Amino acid sequence: MHKQNISFPIITSRFHAHDNLKQPLLETLDRAVGEHLQGHTDDISKSDWETGRFDYEREWVNLFRPDLFEHLHKWLAEIKYDTFNIGEIWYQQYTNGGRHAWHIHSANFTNVYYLELPEDGPKTEWIDPVTQERKVFDVQEGDIITFPSWIKHRSTTNESKGTKTIISWNMDIAISDRYGEENGYP
Ligand SMILES: [Fe+2]
Repeated sequence: MHKQNISFPIITSRFHAHDNLKQPLLETLDRAVGEHLQGHTDDISKSDWETGRFDYEREWVNLFRPDLFEHLHKWLAEIKYDTFNIGEIWYQQYTNGGRHAWHIHSANFTNVYYLELPEDGPKTEWIDPVTQERKVFDVQEGDIITFPSWIKHRSTTNESKGTKTIISWNMDIAISDRYGEENGYP
């Protein structure tokens, strides 16, 4: 077996609508359907992963969508791809003691919007696939991070008194006629 390491950008940017949308989104999440997801390794205080992730007409999704799409079009332009498709979108809240063990996602990219992240709240930890080192994404409240879905990651235990609230979505991307001429199309 021969390894060739390639490099690729993991883009983090501050969500342009964070200041305007933070409170309205948190209010809609307060009245949104959600379940406490608790298992052997996970303790997610409230999430609509189980029941809502394929429902694109939830109140908070409708509120988030216009600015989210604006953000994603800018991100696509940055990495030089053409279209995106969100397969699943959900929220997760972690109160004190909440955690989410190592996992990966489906689709091309995993996205996390840190809607609410206390100063001492847990930032996403990930495993560098080249070195197998554990690292922490350099993020703060208001940021959106997009990374390949097969990167192993977790939310370590929320030791803070505040709540960590994230919105996450799984997303495929595509290229349209960007390579048309090179591909031999007229
Ligand atoms: Fe995740």
